[in-house]
Amino acid sequence: MPTFKSHIMVCDVERDDGAHCGNKGGAEVKERVIQTLSKLGLRSSVYVSSAGCTSQHRLCDMQECSMIVYGPDSEATWYVVNSENVEGVIEKHLVQGEKSEDHINEGMRIDLES
Ligand code: FES
Repeated sequence: MPTFKSHIMVCDVERDDGAHCGNKGGAEVKERVIQTLSKLGLRSSVYVSSAGCTSQHRLCDMQECSMIVYGPDSEATWYVVNSENVEGVIEKHLVQGEKSEDHINEGMRIDLES
């Protein structure tokens, strides 16, 4: 069984109202995440999946979607991203080891240690 260091979940849910992450580029963001991980040599250590709606889409700018990164430590970081800025967010979070503060979803934090 493979062991991953991080898990990235991209919301790509589409709805008829046009306001959900999938309507705002979620599928493109997920594809860009996979391309970025491949480019950085991280594809085998980072698991990528779709996320269901977590009620964050109403907080997002019209062309952005929700993305959750678990790891590489025990923390979950919630971001709001688009296909143009997600590469930088991934690089900063997983390569530089820093949160991409400009893209953090300030409306959602989960602390697994409290
Ligand atoms: S559709 Fe992505 S958070 Fe609701």
